[in-house]
Amino acid sequence: MPALKFSASHITPQTGKTILVTGANSGIGYQAALELARHGAQVLLGVRDEAKGAGALAKLKAAVPGALATVVSLDMASLASIRRFAESFVGELDVLINNAGVMALNSRELTADGFERQFGTNHLGHFALTGLLMPALLRAPAPRVVTVSSLAHRNGKIDFSNLQSERKYVPWDAYNTSKLANLMFALELNRRAAAEGSSLLSIPVHPGISRTAIFANGPGADDMKARIVKLLAPVMTQSDEAGALPTLYAATSPDAKGGEYIGPDGFNHFRGSPAPERPRAQALDEAVAKELWNVSEQLTKVAYPAMQ
Ligand SMILES: NC(=O)c1ccc[n+]([C@@H]2O[C@H](COP(=O)([O-])OP(=O)(O)OC[C@H]3O[C@@H](n4cnc5c(N)ncnc54)[C@H](OP(=O)(O)O)[C@@H]3O)[C@@H](O)[C@H]2O)c1
Repeated sequence: MPALKFSASHITPQTGKTILVTGANSGIGYQAALELARHGAQVLLGVRDEAKGAGALAKLKAAVPGALATVVSLDMASLASIRRFAESFVGELDVLINNAGVMALNSRELTADGFERQFGTNHLGHFALTGLLMPALLRAPAPRVVTVSSLAHRNGKIDFSNLQSERKYVPWDAYNTSKLANLMFALELNRRAAAEGSSLLSIPVHPGISRTAIFANGPGADDMKARIVKLLAPVMTQSDEAGALPTLYAATSPDAKGGEYIGPDGFNHFRGSPAPERPRAQALDEAVAKELWNVSEQLTKVAYPAMQ
C-alpha cells in the first residue's frame, strides 16, 4: 500500500535504468515516458508511426532538455516488427511497460498476422514482446514488467471459442476481452516468476478513465459509451498525466509489489491516486490464465524461457 498519495514528484532517481514504453507517442504512454526521462532513465519510445514518434520525442526533449530518450520502431500489431526489435536489443532492460492499445474499433480488423486487432495488439503483441525480451529483462538486477489493463476487464470474458471474435464481433466485447487478457497475463507472469524464484516483478495497472486520444481513435463518433464518457468527462475522468501515475508507481516505486493491481483510488476507480485494488473474479481464475498462456504461446509462436 503506498504510504502517501503517489505523484510524479515522488519518483525516485531512475538514472542508469533502461525503460521501454510501447505506444509512447501519446496519452498515458507519452506521459509515463516524459516523467521517466525527467527522472534520469534512458527511455525507449516504442512507436508504430515514425513521424508521430519524432513529434513526441521533440516535445519530450523540449520539456526535458538533455533527456536520454530515443524512438524505436515497434508495431505491436506485427510479430515481425516485435521480433525485429527484440532481436536487435542489446544490454539490460530494467522495465518494460506494455502500454500500447486500441479500443472498440467499429469493425473487425486484423493485424499483420491475421489476429483480431484489439486482442492481437493489446494482448498477443505484448505477450510476444515480453517473452522475446525476457533474456534482456533477466540481465537487469530487479526487472519489472508493467502491463496496462483497464476497468473494461470487469466486463471481459475469456471465451476460447470466440477469443478473437471469430464467431461474433462486438467492438466493446473485443476490447473488454483484450484488457482482461492483459490483466490475466500480468498476474500469471508474476505467479510464474515467483514460482521460479525470479527477481522479476509483473505488475498490472489501469489508468481509470483518462482523457486521451483512444476515445477518438477507437469508437465511432456515434458510439454511446464514448459519448457518455465525453459528457461526464469533467466529473468522471482525469488527465493523461494523472492516468500515467499507476504506471509510474508500478515502474518505479520501491513499495510496488508483483501481482498487485494498481489503479486510481477514487469513486469506482475512475480517477484518483494510485492504490492497490482487487481485480474482478474472472481475472483471478488461474486455470483460465494457464490456458490463455498456452493459447498465446501457440498463436505467437513465442515460448517463454526459464525466468532465472
Ligand atoms: N484512456 C483511458 O481512459 C484508458 C482506460 C483504460 C485503459 N487504457 C489503456 O491505456 C493504454 C494507453 O492508451 P491511451 O489512453 O493513452 O490512448 P492513446 O493516447 O490512444 O495511446 C495509445 C497508444 O498506443 C499506440 N498504438 C496503437 N496501436 C499500436 C500498434 N499496433 N503498435 C504500436 N503502438 C500502437 C498508439 O499509437 P498511434 O498514435 O500510432 O495510434 C498510441 O501511442 C491502452 O492500453 C489503453 O487500453 C486507457
